[in-house]
Amino acid sequence: MAGLQDKINSLGIQFDQELTAAKVVRDLEKIRISFLGKKGFILELLSEVKNLSIDEKRLIGPALSGFKARVESELKSKEEQFLKEQIEAENFKKQNFDFTAYKTGVNKGSLHPLTSFIEEVEDIFISMGYEVLDGPELESEFYNFVALNVPKDHPARDMQDTFWVNLPNYLMRTQTSPMQIRAMQEKKLPIAAICPGYAFRNEATDATHDFMFMQCEGFLIDKNVTVANLFATVKIFLKALFKKDLEIRIRPGFFPFVEPGFEIDARCPFCKEGCSVCKRSTWIELFPGGLIHPNVLKAGGIDPEVYSGFAFGFGLTRIALLKYKINDIRLFLSGKIRFLEQF
Ligand code: FA5
Repeated sequence: MAGLQDKINSLGIQFDQELTAAKVVRDLEKIRISFLGKKGFILELLSEVKNLSIDEKRLIGPALSGFKARVESELKSKEEQFLKEQIEAENFKKQNFDFTAYKTGVNKGSLHPLTSFIEEVEDIFISMGYEVLDGPELESEFYNFVALNVPKDHPARDMQDTFWVNLPNYLMRTQTSPMQIRAMQEKKLPIAAICPGYAFRNEATDATHDFMFMQCEGFLIDKNVTVANLFATVKIFLKALFKKDLEIRIRPGFFPFVEPGFEIDARCPFCKEGCSVCKRSTWIELFPGGLIHPNVLKAGGIDPEVYSGFAFGFGLTRIALLKYKINDIRLFLSGKIRFLEQF
């Protein structure tokens, strides 16, 4: 009996020492297991109690359960103390976090080249009074083709290989031109807007073709809009983008939603005698565009006898290729860090 009481006393001293040495909650768990666990000291002592006389049990029993209660409550309050200290330390860290601290060896993020290019394009058009519109990539056949003067079975549909989806009459838009109709239906006249965004074509890819690429639609609809307004707008845009006056050249181009339609080329901004960018011709093909076809104005609810407009839809990714002198369009969406960290 005296032996058991001694054991309780020395376990008490051991417990106090271990509790004082504990630094984190995990240390408390170890103490809990060694004292209160299935093979712990207290159950071991308890198994010895059954061999004692009734009188001895009366004395040792309360001493042992008192010790057990002390172990439990002191472990609990120590754990609460640790958790409180942890929360306080985290709050202190948050309050004193230095957002401006520079740590060496950490990769810094930057804008994707297409994102910064779009921002540049948008700034130029906004400075000319244009607004920037956004539209759906999953588009209806009506907006992508029918309203743009390309009815079902029209051969012009073959010009743009289409990704059809598993929804009747829906497709991934092959061009940003459907935004012309959406704007005509939603906006008050006059309208001057650009719509940069992705277009999708079911085509084999190569250095200048991707199946997902960006276009930028632009249009102006008002009374008395002429091709002169289109050419002047293109010239002002190119001058702001390439920081120099670029001569433009106009060729006829066919798109069912414009009449007349043009392909507008610009003098190569990088050379005088021909280089690899312009394929030694000194000209680069930049802007398809034209005057909006009366049928398209009608489809958008606008009277073509009163209003006219121009529209263009340039390959935003293609011009970004030129601007940054990148030799493969597929790099833009490749997610390659070695490519992206150059911007
Ligand atoms: C069109 O998509 C017409 N919607 C443009 C337009 C708008 C004409 C308004 C008249 C009025 P086109 O199919 O040529 O036209 O494509 C326009 C531009 O998108 C091209 O000049 C080219 O720069 C770019 N483009 C076309 N296909 C791809 C492709 N697979 N990968 C990358 N760029 C492409």
